[in-house]
Amino acid sequence: MEEHLTVGRVAELAGVSVRTLHHYDGIGLVRPSARSTAGYRAYSAADVERLREVLGYRRLGFGLREIAELVDDPATDAAAHLRRLRGLLMEQRDRTTAMVRAIDAELEARALGIRTTPEEQLKVFGAQLYDTIGSAYPATRRTEPRIAARVWEALGDARTVLNVGAGTGSYEPPDREVTAVEPSAVMRAQRPAGAARCVAAAAESLPFEDGSFDAAMAFSTVHHWQDPIAGLREMRRVARRVVVFTYDAGTSGTGGGLERFWLTRDYLPEFAELLVGWPSLADLAGAVGGRAEPVLVPWDCADGFFEAHWRRPEAYLDEEVRRAVSVWTRVGPEAERRAVDRLREDLSSGRWTERNRDLAALEAAELGLRLIVA
Ligand SMILES: C[S@@+](CC[C@H](N)C(=O)[O-])C[C@H]1O[C@@H](n2cnc3c(N)ncnc32)[C@H](O)[C@@H]1O
Repeated sequence: MEEHLTVGRVAELAGVSVRTLHHYDGIGLVRPSARSTAGYRAYSAADVERLREVLGYRRLGFGLREIAELVDDPATDAAAHLRRLRGLLMEQRDRTTAMVRAIDAELEARALGIRTTPEEQLKVFGAQLYDTIGSAYPATRRTEPRIAARVWEALGDARTVLNVGAGTGSYEPPDREVTAVEPSAVMRAQRPAGAARCVAAAAESLPFEDGSFDAAMAFSTVHHWQDPIAGLREMRRVARRVVVFTYDAGTSGTGGGLERFWLTRDYLPEFAELLVGWPSLADLAGAVGGRAEPVLVPWDCADGFFEAHWRRPEAYLDEEVRRAVSVWTRVGPEAERRAVDRLREDLSSGRWTERNRDLAALEAAELGLRLIVA
């Protein structure tokens, strides 16, 4: 027989007050649905599961109204809640680790009588996105051989290659002398043993003399730079050939970049906000004096970047897939949750398949990815 727990016992186990549980009951958040033999209200296994979800979201800082919406959503089952909680907690852990490190560094500096600059003090709250999300990256991000072949071909006969915003080095050519540049310590730490030498620096200010390299490459990184045009000019300065894999926000047939991909068109319109102020493809190509070629995304793309799963929509329901793509963190948890919940519904109702019938026959899709070669 299923065990039922009294309110006192649940409070004791969960480390919350009986008053809190009565409050949750009163507002309909967690209602004990069973009765004890003496006729008192008691918590069933399902009630306890719901309480666990509520307390999990509470600990992450969600408000009670927001939590009610989350746990009442019929499309999210217990396993999906656990996966979401896990993803959010990992993100919080990474952010906390980065903050602890920054505090340690500041304490150390103070002990030595060194004053840290305002930039150093604020860095941890600011742009170091990959120091907070980077640990989730290697799970699904790796070399896609067909796209790598295009990049390596574009490098021509270059013997020395600078890879800017190198991350874990997925697209570094194995047969040239590579120097990597990567500002995030978390990403640098995840480079495999034997990977090319990696310098801690940012694209906007490359610590190299003019013309130091035969070629400079940048893969899926320009959209993270604070000043993309300045970074591209730096690449042009230090190398005689430049190869950049990036995204063209504005060239679909009619409705702009967003229209091209069902995920942003039908589920995540918030993506548009990330593109505000983003330079046009012409400006990006102009900064290095190059031309842009389209790069189609194969249906079975091995690198889990944002567009990679265009013919495998279920992949976007997977927390691990999303956490390795910065777009999902940048749009925020609300937009992410809504997009994923809607996609899940449309996949189970068959609506997604109906809307996207034409994709089934496609081997590769044009989703706005471009290779700028100069
Ligand atoms: C999506 S990852 C791509 C990593 C790698 N190029 C790849 O394709 O696997 C973007 C990388 O750009 C780096 N990045 C962010 N801002 C940068 C900047 N201003 N200059 C150079 N790299 C930067 C991030 O730290 C992150 O490692």
